[in-house]
Amino acid sequence: KDASISVFSSHRLNPINRKIYSGFTEHMGRCIYGGIYDPENPNKALITPQGFRKDVIDALKPLNIPVFRYPGGNFCATYHWEDGVGPRDKRRKRPDLAWGALEPNSFGTDEFMQWCKELDTEPYLCLNFGTGTLDEAMAWVEYCNGTEDTHYANLRRQNGNQEPYNVKYWALGNEVWGDWQVEQMTDTAYAERALQWAKALKYLDPNIELILCGREGPTTWDYTVLKHCIRARGNDPVGQPRLQLIDMHSIHLYTASENHYENVYAPLTAERAIEVASALIDLTYYEQKIPATQKRPKICFDEWNVWWSKRAPGWLGAEEKYTLSDALAVAVWLNVFIRKSADVEMANIAQSVNVISPLMTTEDGIIKQTSWYPYELFCRYMSGSLISVHLACEEYDGPTKLEFTRVTKKTPWLDVSATFDGEHVNLAVVNVHEEKDFETRINGVKGSVQVFVVSGENVDVTNMGGKEEVAIKEEMWDGKGLYTFPKHSFTLLRWKA
Ligand code: AHR
Repeated sequence: KDASISVFSSHRLNPINRKIYSGFTEHMGRCIYGGIYDPENPNKALITPQGFRKDVIDALKPLNIPVFRYPGGNFCATYHWEDGVGPRDKRRKRPDLAWGALEPNSFGTDEFMQWCKELDTEPYLCLNFGTGTLDEAMAWVEYCNGTEDTHYANLRRQNGNQEPYNVKYWALGNEVWGDWQVEQMTDTAYAERALQWAKALKYLDPNIELILCGREGPTTWDYTVLKHCIRARGNDPVGQPRLQLIDMHSIHLYTASENHYENVYAPLTAERAIEVASALIDLTYYEQKIPATQKRPKICFDEWNVWWSKRAPGWLGAEEKYTLSDALAVAVWLNVFIRKSADVEMANIAQSVNVISPLMTTEDGIIKQTSWYPYELFCRYMSGSLISVHLACEEYDGPTKLEFTRVTKKTPWLDVSATFDGEHVNLAVVNVHEEKDFETRINGVKGSVQVFVVSGENVDVTNMGGKEEVAIKEEMWDGKGLYTFPKHSFTLLRWKA
C-alpha cells in the first residue's frame, strides 16, 4: 500500500459552520450585468420576470449557498447605495473607479435582495469606507432593516418593499489597506474609524453583525486593527453591558501558479494565515484581559480562490479559464476551511459568476468550470462536525513557495479532511500527484461506500473549449481491501457511520 487514512467518526472536534460555502457577487466585469442580471438578453426563456438569469439561479440554488457578499470588493470604495434604488429611469449612471467601467446602477440593493430571496440565501453588504460617510452607512442599514416610521425605512416602502430585509452581515470596508483603494488608510486611522462606525451602527441596529477589515491574516495591519477594535465590553455608566462591536475579522487571499505542485499546495498558505490570525485574536483577548465568556470573533475569509490575473483575459473582467489543476487547488482550499472550521465562521468564494468564478454564462446558457465540481461536492456533503482523521503518506519535497508562510515544509501527496453529518462520514481526499495512483488502506470505513471522483485526462484540461473534460463520476465501492485514489483527482467517499 502507498498510504493509510484512519477516520475516527466518534471523535467530533467542532461543528462546521455552513457559511464557509458562501458566495460573492461584485459589480465587476460580467458578474452582475450578464451574470446574475441580464434583462436585455434576446433569449427570453433564460430570463426571469425580474431580469435575473434563470439558469444561474437553477445552478446555484441546489448548492444551498448560505450567504452572498455584495456589492464588492474594490467597487465599494466609491459606491453610493442611493444611486441604485428607486425608479430605474431616474438612477444615476456613474464612473466606477475600481474597474474603470460605467456603472448604470440598474441593479442595486432591492434587486440584490430579490435575487437573494430567489436563492433562499442571506445578504452580506460591504460598506463604502472610501468616499462614503457614516451617515450614508447608517442610512443604508436603516433602509434595509428599519421598522419604524423613519425616512429611509419609508423610502424602502415607497420603493415597493414593505418588509425589512433584516440584513445581518455588514463589512466595515474592503481592503482599505490596499494602495489601489480610493481613500486608502493607515492601520491606525482605519482602526479608529471602524470603531466609531461600529458603535453608531450597533446603536442603530444591535442585531447586525460587523466584520472588521483585516488583511491576509499574519500582518501588523491585522494585529493593530484587532487590538484597537476588540475590547472588553464591560458595563456602561448605568450598569448595562456594552454592545459587542466586532463579530468577525475578515482576511483575503488568492493563490495561483503556472507550476502544478505550487498551484495545488498554495492554499496551505491560507491554513497558516487562519492559524496566525486566530492567534492574534487570542493574543488580543489575553492582552486586554477580555473574559473568555465574551463572544470571540472568528475569521471571515470573505475573498478566496485561485486567481492568476495575468492569465485571465482582460484582468478587469478576470474571466479565468480553470484547469483541472485549479480544481484540485480549490478542493485543497475547501479542505483547509474544513480543517480550520473551529476558527472560520464564514468564507466567500470570489466570485460566484463569470469573474474569477467556477460558473460562467454565455448568451445561451451556462458553463460549469472544472472548479465547480469540488465546490458542489463540498456544498452538498461536507458539513456537520469536523472529525479526527490521521494520514500516513509519502511527501512531495519539491518547491512549493510555502517556505516563508508555514512552520513545516511537509506536503503529503494526499490532502485530506473528514466530517460527520449526523448520519454519514464524508471523507474528502485530493491526490495531487500527476503520475501516481495511491493504493490506500482506509481504517474506520463501514459497509458500502458512495464514491464521487473529479478528474480528467491531465492537469491542464479545462471545460471552456466546448467539451466537459472534468465532471463528477459517481460509483459504489464495497469498502473492502484497499481503495485507489487516482492520480490528479479529488475523491469524496461517503458511508453510513
Ligand atoms: O475579487 C476581485 C477583487 O479582488 C476585489 O474587488 C478586491 O477586494 C480584491 O482585491
